[in-house]
Amino acid sequence: KNIAIIMGGYSSEYNISIKSGNVVHKYLDREKYNPYRIVISKDKWYYLDELEQEHPIERSDFSVEIHGKKIQFDCVFNAIHGTPGEDGLMQAYFELLGIPQTSCNHYEAALTFNKRDLLSALKPYNVPCATSYFLNKGQSIDEDSIVDKVGLPCFVKANRAGSSYGVSKVYDRATLADAIESAFKEDSQIIIESFLDGTEVSVGVITFNNEVTVLPATEIISENDFFDFEAKYLGKSQEITPARISEKQESNVRQLAEFIYKTLELKGYTRSEFIFIGDEPHLLEINTTPGLTEESLLPQQAKTAGITLEELFDSAIVEALR
Ligand code: DAL
Ligand code: MG
Repeated sequence: KNIAIIMGGYSSEYNISIKSGNVVHKYLDREKYNPYRIVISKDKWYYLDELEQEHPIERSDFSVEIHGKKIQFDCVFNAIHGTPGEDGLMQAYFELLGIPQTSCNHYEAALTFNKRDLLSALKPYNVPCATSYFLNKGQSIDEDSIVDKVGLPCFVKANRAGSSYGVSKVYDRATLADAIESAFKEDSQIIIESFLDGTEVSVGVITFNNEVTVLPATEIISENDFFDFEAKYLGKSQEITPARISEKQESNVRQLAEFIYKTLELKGYTRSEFIFIGDEPHLLEINTTPGLTEESLLPQQAKTAGITLEELFDSAIVEALR
């Protein structure tokens, strides 16, 4: 089967996605699949061959012509973080073309990528989360009502972004305006959340052998002030899998992660972040195309569960084609 591994994307997470895509490319079983690295960048979409030559993608049917021969794909392996791979745009395109792909469907991707809309969709189910305040670019900024609502310290985040781009922790009023300005560089919408002081865990939920499977939780201990870009990718954190949490906490977070996956009808790999207040996990966010580098959390969790990278990546394609 011809597998298009899509990577890159239009956001600040481009380089991380290229790394994820290359790992998928490395571990896909060559006896079952012909994997193609397809780079989706702002100005061009192309197949990158083993000699690093670029071959343009025909967008009307997502095919590529290689030495006069037209290649079409049986399945797309989505390794794009951020837009257009994690927010439903690529998903909608492949749904229209009828090409199966490994992440969730377009609406669920768009919904979960938008932190504001995700929280409001889960509100009727009483999923615990931080108190939040939303702001669109151009709206007047009322610092008093922000601080009244969320308190200090608080987190200022781009509403639709990943890898901590556009995220700041704010301790005092004096730095709030700068944090808001920097979040607006990533997105035209921002979310400001109260600081939850507790153990942070990350929980992968995947579909494996046709079953929704919750992977062992990872505990995150950042050397920096929070789990920022440097902590995530430049080694400034400790990531402990399985997390050192109580049985009660573990069962609560597993149940909640599985409930969210099923309630929102997610598919493929997801990884959600939670902070415990007492025994109760509070949801921060869901990633529907989580990082897949060898150091990334979801692959670490899979390994802890006895699932190799080959098996993990193979399962995504098997499920997409089911
Ligand atoms: N957004 C990054 C890639 C992650 O969630 O792993
Ligand atoms: Mg994220």
